[in-house]
Amino acid sequence: MTSDELILASRPTGLPGAENFTVRQVALPEPGEGEFRVRVEVISLDPAMRGWMSEGRSYVPPVEIGAVMRAFAAGTVEASRHPGFPEGSSVVGMLGARSHALSNGEGVYRIERARAPIERWVGGLGMPGMTAYFGLLRIGRPKDGETVAVAAAAGAVGQIVGQLAKLHGARAVGIAGGPEKCRLLTETFGFDEAVDHRAPDMEARLKAACPKGIDVYFENVGGPIADACYRNMAMNGRVPVCGMISTYNGESTEGLSLAAYRSILVNRLTVRGFLIFDFAADIEEALTNLGRWHEEGRLVMREDVRGGGLGAFGAVLSDLYTGANTGKLVLKLD
Ligand SMILES: NC(=O)c1ccc[n+]([C@@H]2O[C@H](COP(=O)([O-])OP(=O)(O)OC[C@H]3O[C@@H](n4cnc5c(N)ncnc54)[C@H](OP(=O)(O)O)[C@@H]3O)[C@@H](O)[C@H]2O)c1
Repeated sequence: MTSDELILASRPTGLPGAENFTVRQVALPEPGEGEFRVRVEVISLDPAMRGWMSEGRSYVPPVEIGAVMRAFAAGTVEASRHPGFPEGSSVVGMLGARSHALSNGEGVYRIERARAPIERWVGGLGMPGMTAYFGLLRIGRPKDGETVAVAAAAGAVGQIVGQLAKLHGARAVGIAGGPEKCRLLTETFGFDEAVDHRAPDMEARLKAACPKGIDVYFENVGGPIADACYRNMAMNGRVPVCGMISTYNGESTEGLSLAAYRSILVNRLTVRGFLIFDFAADIEEALTNLGRWHEEGRLVMREDVRGGGLGAFGAVLSDLYTGANTGKLVLKLD
């Protein structure tokens, strides 16, 4: 039995790409007692991967050069000596970017494939969905009639943030790149307003979309969009800081302006960073609620599924940082 593995070959400068990875084939032993083998079907592509590819201090150690690329993935158990993960069951977890994974079950969860396509379990019903859930509901805490703004709104986390805001009685304003994504926000995801951040008058459009100011700014991107949002916050606003994708490739060195900092003081804002791992104890709650709303048709989930196998990983990953993905970006293995 062999497995194809995606190896980090070099650390990127700027955008990551195919040149940073190689694929190697390794022999995979049969599962020992308490182990099982997963045939990986989908690999999740996440903005955080750019950080994992770099040296330096972060919330997890970097992937070493020559090591298998860290990745959430989902697939089917095809051989098992573990009673909790029988042959034929479907699973998700940090299995790595590889065609087959040997696991002892640590950090791996069973999924109910009949309820949703497998790619959704690394999207709205997986880590990004739970990130939106905890960030918005535990930190943002939107109230009836308040305005929630989120950028990268057509992406994996953003699409769920806007819909959860609506489900909790708030107005949802999505910020996204280009008219097509903006249409998707209002027509498919039910946002009240969509603001194209590529438009030259982005801030004027944002102000018009949020006439009473922004009560919750769900921070996904940083940079000039964040600055405009901070400057347009309402009194006692909340900013769950989830990510700052505009800074991940080192291309943007702009910090928040003094006017944005002043808004934190004047408007008594609460700004709080979080990682999905902070809420690990409550994953069951998030999954139950996200699954229920999804089944009731109140939570639409959109994925952007790509082919091309492990060899396509680097090129597909770069799409996250140029905005070429719409919805949760996933690589499907044949
Ligand atoms: N804290 C946590 O535990 C946690 C967990 C998951 C994700 N995150 C963070 O959540 C954010 C969204 O992640 P995701 O998985 O949902 O990705 P995503 O939104 O599916 O994809 C990334 C999107 O970011 C936007 N973008 C890229 N570069 C940008 C720039 N320079 N300025 C403005 N927008 C830019 C693009 O959308 P447009 O075309 O609309 O610009 C792109 O499609 C990221 O910052 C990520 O790191 C945090």
